[in-house]
Amino acid sequence: MDLYEAVKSRRAVRGFADRPVPREVLERVLSAAAWSPSGSNLQPWRVYVLTGEPLAELKKRAGERVAAGDAWDEREYEMYPTALKSPYRERRSAFGKERYKSLGVAREDWEGRQRAASENWQCFGAPAALFCYIDRDMGLPQWADLGMYLQTVMLLLRAEGLHSCPQMAWSVYRKTVAEIVHPPDDLVLFCGMSIGFENANVDYIRTGRAPLEETVTFVESSALRSHAA
Ligand SMILES: Cc1cc2nc3c(=O)[nH]c(=O)nc-3n(C[C@H](O)[C@H](O)[C@H](O)COP(=O)(O)O)c2cc1C
Repeated sequence: MDLYEAVKSRRAVRGFADRPVPREVLERVLSAAAWSPSGSNLQPWRVYVLTGEPLAELKKRAGERVAAGDAWDEREYEMYPTALKSPYRERRSAFGKERYKSLGVAREDWEGRQRAASENWQCFGAPAALFCYIDRDMGLPQWADLGMYLQTVMLLLRAEGLHSCPQMAWSVYRKTVAEIVHPPDDLVLFCGMSIGFENANVDYIRTGRAPLEETVTFVESSALRSHAA
């Protein structure tokens, strides 16, 4: 698959087919993703892969917590700033609107929204998932390394005909994940990622992106001259 096609066809898929992902494919993807860059080559990602019985057990335990209305685990990092300023606030709200529209759930239908969100902890039906941890000593640049690594994984999954959904949602049930993967205490769970073949019967609305001028500035030589003047 052409790289541009991989980038453009990657999206957060929230409906997976009941079709297993071969272990050798996951090994091929994760071996190649290990070539992602990281500051001083620290390779700060620590990944656990679940399929089969361990994943089924995780979904079962998480499902029980959801059904019991169990409180979320205390946070080890904040997912977003408490007060999102413009333009991020508007982008987040546009995303929420589109997401619930695609599900046919009204914005004021709190229960419907909760039901949709709870699919996170069933990995949207995916037969495979990974959980990406980082050492708690690591700083912002190493967390950024994790992002590069995870995007590399997601693009390689596209090259294998697979789809994915990165999920910070798993961080709120991190203790349940820990019961299954038994990470050392010095690791923090950044996110999970559901992996599988797409269920083409699940509706979705493709997210948009801000126009290039909003996020990218080409600094022209004329700007140098006007600053010098
Ligand atoms: C680090 C990270 C965490 C995310 N966490 C979740 C999540 O918990 N649940 C979910 O449904 N989507 C999650 N997403 C998916 C985003 O909502 C999605 O990437 C964004 O809306 C852009 O849409 P697209 O990926 O389909 O292009 C996450 C994405 C990233 C990069």
